[in-house]
Amino acid sequence: MPGRLEPEPIGRRDFLGLAGWWSAGIAIVGSLLGMARLPKPRVLDEVSARFRLGAPSDFPPGTDTEIAGRNVRIVSNQEGIRAMSLICTHLGCIVGREADGGFSCPCHGSKFDPEGEPTAGPAPRALTWLAVSQSADGTLIVDKDTEVSAEEVYHV
Ligand code: FES
Repeated sequence: MPGRLEPEPIGRRDFLGLAGWWSAGIAIVGSLLGMARLPKPRVLDEVSARFRLGAPSDFPPGTDTEIAGRNVRIVSNQEGIRAMSLICTHLGCIVGREADGGFSCPCHGSKFDPEGEPTAGPAPRALTWLAVSQSADGTLIVDKDTEVSAEEVYHV
């Protein structure tokens, strides 16, 4: 006979009944939590990798423009338009323009020439050139997720 401090043994039938109720409860709570999340849009709050740059006429040949807040440089010449990432290929710091037209990284001292080729420091490779395209309304679009070769020019 069980004492006051010993729990009563539970029968197999009672145990299976309790397990059934607990399983049903967990399933119902899980379903309700899932339904409660449905109205909330499942989107990322981060800035899109593709962004609209503006009209081609905003970047006439001979201009070299840094896009504030996007860490991208737009180089335009007679052949077309190219976009270069200003994110260091070492650990991702933002490079800054040097007096000679090249770039330097404030974090660990990498240096890049005006074409983004590394000239000093720990950066393992050149700055990334990015895909440029045009939307149906003629606006230029830069895709920071698509890397292109340094020679690839978007012909406007
Ligand atoms: S992040 Fe640019 S050199 Fe390290």
